[in-house]
Amino acid sequence: MEEILTRFAPTQKELIPILHAVQAEYGYVPKEAIARISRFLRVSEGEIFGVLTFYRGFSLEPRGKFLITVCLGTACHVRGGANIAAELERRLRIKAGGTTPDRKFTLETVNCLGCCAIGPVVVVNGTYHARVTLKKVEGVLAECRDSE
Ligand code: FES
Repeated sequence: MEEILTRFAPTQKELIPILHAVQAEYGYVPKEAIARISRFLRVSEGEIFGVLTFYRGFSLEPRGKFLITVCLGTACHVRGGANIAAELERRLRIKAGGTTPDRKFTLETVNCLGCCAIGPVVVVNGTYHARVTLKKVEGVLAECRDSE
């Protein structure tokens, strides 16, 4: 944490870059980091918490190595997005919002990723998978496992 803070000036405009750096380092933003950033920037912990909960990219809980995001927006939903999410829940044995006990996978859902024409869409650590079908789900997971 201290090493991360050496990269930034103690000004409020650095709050989001610092939070991104902490998220990249730990995979989430620990409570202790919020307290330390609060002292460093002289910003209340409540204000930092507000930023963390406003932006979806930040997490207050440890995430898995692979963050799998399934779109359940209308366009993806009508093309089977909910079935894709259910299949991932079944295969990973977690509910959406959860992380596998080995901390390899976190599964989450969103309402629209802004690329409705290629739905159903699944995103793994920023890589978009278009027109995902139930048959493609295992391939998506296998890609993750192969990249380890
Ligand atoms: S509804 Fe899925 S990308 Fe828009």
